[in-house]
Amino acid sequence: MTAPTTPDAVTVRVPAKVNVQLAVGAARPDGFHGLANVFLAVGLHDEVTATPSDTLRITAEGHDVDQIPLDRTNLAARAAELLAARYGIEPHVHLHITKDIPVAGGMAGGSADAAGALVACDALWSTGASRAELLALCAELGSDVPFGLVGGAALGRGRGELLNPLTVGGTFHWVFAVADGGLSTPAVYREFDRLTEGTEVPEPEAAPELLAALESGDATALAAALANDLQPAALSLRPSLAATLDAGTAAGALAALVSGSGPTTAFLAKNAEAARQVAAALSASGTCRQVRVADSPAPGATLL
Ligand code: C5P
Repeated sequence: MTAPTTPDAVTVRVPAKVNVQLAVGAARPDGFHGLANVFLAVGLHDEVTATPSDTLRITAEGHDVDQIPLDRTNLAARAAELLAARYGIEPHVHLHITKDIPVAGGMAGGSADAAGALVACDALWSTGASRAELLALCAELGSDVPFGLVGGAALGRGRGELLNPLTVGGTFHWVFAVADGGLSTPAVYREFDRLTEGTEVPEPEAAPELLAALESGDATALAAALANDLQPAALSLRPSLAATLDAGTAAGALAALVSGSGPTTAFLAKNAEAARQVAAALSASGTCRQVRVADSPAPGATLL
């Protein structure tokens, strides 16, 4: 019998996400918030390449890599350590991250890298982990990490980690305006708590009309149903985002919203041509640092 061969290098491509609905409930005793989180994967990607090494090492190239940690606090490194610990092996791997997803932008770039690292290390080390095991490890790493693995569209319950896949009946065209600097997700949730203090926060529920719009691929209906309960908190911490939202809306976007905890803002366009026009207007507006155009849905973590 021949021993299984170890690949020299494994590269995994992982998508960014936009939350087309982010319904936030009251803070739970563990500090997390109950969510009805409708994730949609978009065609902006990071790549994670895993190669054998005599230690755990992270390198990165691409957009804003000076803003990501290259030590063991990087969620991709923690993914490698978690998988290695589960299978009783040493986390000796070099992870190289090629970044195209905005950093700390509310598009789950760090979570995507963690999902990519997990899938890459799993293949490199031939652990034979089942998909359910990988999803459980993703959930340990962070609320948004399982969706990086799954991609497409999904409803996330619990703190966002319990996923039910959703059907998407067409292609949606998005424009993303990247703001200067990031926003801290815990800080945005704390601001949500401050803004809702003394009010009755309803149980978060996915809106049936939003799920129907996704299923039918109807951009106008989806635009009418887009909702982000974290948007007031993100705007409170970063009031300048209002001007970006206004600029995209004035340029003909069907709808505009903050992506997740921000500060990236997302604009849904009627079609690819409209997306290009909105992108050009946003670039000229001077209200954001960078503009990206991307379609959805996109597949989850994929071995290249
Ligand atoms: O799960 P993750 O590590 O991505 O969460 C980052 C932070 O965001 C948490 O520590 C918490 O402050 C906040 N959060 C929350 N409720 C959620 C998800 C995240 O309060 N459902």
